[in-house]
Amino acid sequence: MKINIRAEAPQDYTAIREANDKAFEQQNEGRLIEALRALPEFIPELSLVAEHHGKIIGHILFSPVEIRGKQTVHQALALAPMAVLPEYQGRGIGTQLVEEGLRQARQMGFGAVIVLGHEWFYPRFGFRPASRWNIRSPFPVPDAAFLALELRQGALQGVKGMVKYLRPFEEV
Ligand SMILES: CC(C)(COP(=O)(O)OP(=O)(O)OC[C@H]1O[C@@H](n2cnc3c(N)ncnc32)[C@H](O)[C@@H]1OP(=O)(O)O)[C@@H](O)C(=O)NCCC(=O)NCCS
Repeated sequence: MKINIRAEAPQDYTAIREANDKAFEQQNEGRLIEALRALPEFIPELSLVAEHHGKIIGHILFSPVEIRGKQTVHQALALAPMAVLPEYQGRGIGTQLVEEGLRQARQMGFGAVIVLGHEWFYPRFGFRPASRWNIRSPFPVPDAAFLALELRQGALQGVKGMVKYLRPFEEV
């Protein structure tokens, strides 16, 4: 299926919210995106939409996080949330959104990405349990669902600690 993936623009905000509401069957993620967008840390170039014949059918967002050790702080990205409209799922759109997002993030110079999500989806992109680096989630989650990926080989070497998400994540 031919789709176009590009950075969000203001005219997409409503469709992004609707895609998330429908994919998650709740409004938390749509609200989260809007709260994140209001922050100075928000990176619009890493809020990507998948467009098919002019219709927004999927969305992915990466936002900055810190990995805080006892005496160290490392910058990274969190992939969250991502959504594909239910009627378009299972056709490779989610895969294309992740691949394009990772490519953009690498190009922007980020070293690593954290994701809390489906263990059946993210390992295909190279994500592995974050516990292998001693990177911990601030939320109680199963080990297999909290994953990390190096965008640059060795970027997580020696990095450990607790992931600090932007504040709106604590309110979801
Ligand atoms: C997760 C999501 C974004 C994936 O988007 P998508 O366009 O369906 O993704 P793709 O088609 O590229 O790939 C989906 C893969 O997961 C597989 N899959 C789907 N549901 C699955 C399940 N319950 N268990 C195991 N595998 C599953 C599909 O078979 C497919 O694998 P394949 O490529 O080997 O056939 C989409 O399902 C979605 O929006 N879900 C609801 C919101 C959500 O959970 N977001 C992610 C939060 S971490």
